[in-house]
Amino acid sequence: MSTPSTLIVPPTGPLRGQVDVVGDKSISHRALFLAAMAEGESQIYNLSPAQDVASTQAVLQALGAEIMGAEIMGAEITADKTSVRVRPGWRTPSGPLMCGNSGTTARSVMGALLAQGLGARLEGDASLSRRAMGPVVRALQGFGLRAELSQGHLPAHIVPGALRAAEVHIDNGSAQIKTACLLAALRAKGTSRITESRPARDHTERMLPVFGGRCTVTGSGVTVTGPQSLRGAELHIPGDVSAAAFVVVAASLIPGSDVTLRGVGLNPFRVAYLEVLRRMGALIEITETGCMGDEPVGRVRVRAARLRGVEIPADWAPRLIDEYPILSVAAAFADGITEFRGAEALRDKECDRLAASAQNLRSAGVVVEAFADGLRITGGGIRQTALRLDGFGDHRMVMANAVLLMAREDQAEAGMVTTAEVMAISDPEFVSRFQSLGGLMSMAPVQPPVSVWT
Ligand code: S3P
Repeated sequence: MSTPSTLIVPPTGPLRGQVDVVGDKSISHRALFLAAMAEGESQIYNLSPAQDVASTQAVLQALGAEIMGAEIMGAEITADKTSVRVRPGWRTPSGPLMCGNSGTTARSVMGALLAQGLGARLEGDASLSRRAMGPVVRALQGFGLRAELSQGHLPAHIVPGALRAAEVHIDNGSAQIKTACLLAALRAKGTSRITESRPARDHTERMLPVFGGRCTVTGSGVTVTGPQSLRGAELHIPGDVSAAAFVVVAASLIPGSDVTLRGVGLNPFRVAYLEVLRRMGALIEITETGCMGDEPVGRVRVRAARLRGVEIPADWAPRLIDEYPILSVAAAFADGITEFRGAEALRDKECDRLAASAQNLRSAGVVVEAFADGLRITGGGIRQTALRLDGFGDHRMVMANAVLLMAREDQAEAGMVTTAEVMAISDPEFVSRFQSLGGLMSMAPVQPPVSVWT
């Protein structure tokens, strides 16, 4: 784990320029899982450098896959971790599968283990071990999963089970659970159907044909007939539109800013936050420039604008799930009230993101009413200077707080965010990207307490 650090955010001027974002984290996990389940080698370019994706790589390697630097035009690139070659292989692991902080790794691998007829013990860090694993296990039980959880949580013990096709309904809008089910359904004999009350991101469905797989997507669900064998593929991962969200909001809030993000994924299930910001009055231009696999990509240009509060439709929750912390920051600076509901899933993320957002905004003087499933934020700006905000050991909370500090009005002194090292969970380039746009921020290692012996 990286050195415990505090993010220091001094007064900042406008953000200007063009930047790329890291490869998409969600799509990277799926590319690794499908490559590991395929026959033959795959090459993946622009893989996310996130620690969560490294957890998926480590888990797949422990299960027998070989993951190496990719060959680009005949030259072996080993230093570039964002280009990898995957040679599939599956075996019973010799020790526990360490999923780190990554919910997508833990839940997806349950489906993959069932598909491959393997058992394993799954472990996670303290945060992941607090997150609910009952819903994914219940969904996969339909496909024959046999698993023992520790009171609904990790560590989990997965026993090799008899895989069967199933009809499963997911009512909490979880793309991680859907992906676990799709991986199992691919290998099950017969037709499986996965339906959703509130459709979640569809990266797995879009990626399957790239590996020669087939599924049929209808309004309420996805049908897979198995068993199917996948073949190795070459694919390029689009830039992470959720990583882009922090730049988009910062550039909207900081007067004089004008920023263009290049090569960003524009999957309709992921860009809902851009629509919310537009409704708030943000100046956002989206230019679709092409496709990577079946994922639309393009440029997003943002210029500073005065924002106003909005009511965010509750049924958008699965499409906004990772963006609520940063949208809450936007709401704190907007004129008027912003309210969102239907987002109870936020209580079971890397931290309780509803409680964490409410606490941070209140400590910055913002009026926030918290509900079981959302927040009502009375905007108007933040004028306090030497704020010290808690990052809660949650990457998206740290990054949202960094933007809050950058956008403060009447800045005089630097602000700080604790537990800043966890930004690497999704985006090790967060600080350098803002620096390249003119944002002033830096990481300061937390000094361990000195013991003095007399
Ligand atoms: C993810 C799905 C979302 C999201 C997470 C990544 C994925 O979780 O919060 O960061 O890659 O499938 P849900 O399972 O709540 O959809």
